[in-house]
This record gives sequence, C-alpha cells and structure tokens, in this order.
Amino acid sequence: MKILVTAGPTREKIDPVRYITNFSSGKMGYALAREAARRGAGVVLVSGPVALPAPENVRVVNVESAAEMFDAVAREFPSCDLLVMAAAVADYRVAHPAAEKLKKSPGDLVLTLERTADILAEMGRRKTPGQKILGFAAESGDLAGRAREKLHRKNLDWIAANLVADGFGTDDDRIILLSAAGTELEIGPAPKAEIARRIFDAIL
Ligand code: CTP
Repeated sequence: MKILVTAGPTREKIDPVRYITNFSSGKMGYALAREAARRGAGVVLVSGPVALPAPENVRVVNVESAAEMFDAVAREFPSCDLLVMAAAVADYRVAHPAAEKLKKSPGDLVLTLERTADILAEMGRRKTPGQKILGFAAESGDLAGRAREKLHRKNLDWIAANLVADGFGTDDDRIILLSAAGTELEIGPAPKAEIARRIFDAIL
C-alpha cells in the first residue's frame, strides 16, 4: 500500500524576505506519516517548512508555497492508494509578490490576496475507484456539521475535524473522525502519535 501524507504550513511570499504563513507545526502529519511507515506502507510525505526530523522510512518532498504543494501532490497522487491531507494550506496568496525587497513608506501598505487552488477538492475530483482520501478540518462551533458538509463537498472518504480553540503546535490533540458512510468516532485528547494510530486503526 502506498500512502501520500501532507503536513505543515505553507509560505506565501510577499517579497524575497517576507511571507505569510500560519501556526501549523506539522506534528499531526508527521505522526501520521511515521505511523503509516511503521505499519509497512510506502509513504511519501509532502511537507511545508517545519522544524521536525524526517520520519524513518519515509520519502520526504519539501515544498514552500500552496502552489508547490499542489504540484507535488498532483504528481504523487495517481500512484497512491490513500491521500492524507493534514497540511494547513494557505487559502490565499499575495497576488503580486514583489521581485525586490519592499521599502517602507510613511503610509499604510495594502496587500491584495488571491485564492489558492484547493488541493483536497481537486484530488477529490481526480480520485479513481480504489483510491481513498482523508481530509482535515479545523472548525469552531458546529464541528461535526461543518466537517460533514466539507466531507461531501470535497468527495472525501473521511474527515478528521478538530476544534481550532484547542490550538496549534500542541502535542496532544482531540479529533472527531467522520466517514462518508456516516460513522462518527471521537479520538482523544491524546498525544498525536496515539491519534495517528487510532486514525489508521479506524480507516485501514
Ligand atoms: N486544503 C487544501 N488546499 C487548500 C486549502 C485547504 O488541500 N488550498 C485542505 C487542508 O489540507 C485540509 C482541508 O482542506 O485537509 C481543510 O479544508 P478547508 O476548506 O480549507 O477548511 P478550513 O481551512 O479548515 O476552514 P474554512 O472552510 O473555514 O476555510
């Protein structure tokens, strides 16, 4: 079995020395990649910039921007049985990144942001019979309801929803795993390594 995992944040350039990003640590995605490899799967990890060591027996493809992550995932997905999309991909990028370092001026600076492509939704469209997709959703409020809507809209097989209120970068996590078949499983609070084990117990 070949499993494609994404992890970490993306970086969207403002100019050669500045970027927009988010607080994703990559820990959940790395824990999932490590667990998949431990179970004997061939694992490709497409990773945004994180401060984590490469898991053993995993092929790591390092990317920076959402566009680079899209290209790497699109390249690897056709030969994979399962895509686990744990990365916190930027929804917006700077419309016109400056070629040279921006100089300050007395007034405010206005940046125009444009939408990035939704990698998960696009792989949901490209999915062939036999391929499976697990997505993630960071939600507040009606966690399960919003996650289930996303599961169907993006043509996923499962979605792992966590409360944004629980924060980024923590070692422990708490998720609800929803399946397209309608099942719901609460996992945690538990260390991310255990969450990863229980996610694979449930889906494999
Ligand atoms: N995702 C993606 N490509 C994007 C943005 C998100 O593949 N450009 C994936 C993430 O990896 C994650 C899921 O989509 O698996 C999150 O879904 P998204 O619709 O972005 O939801 P949130 O960002 O959690 O919330 P919101 O809908 O409020 O933006």
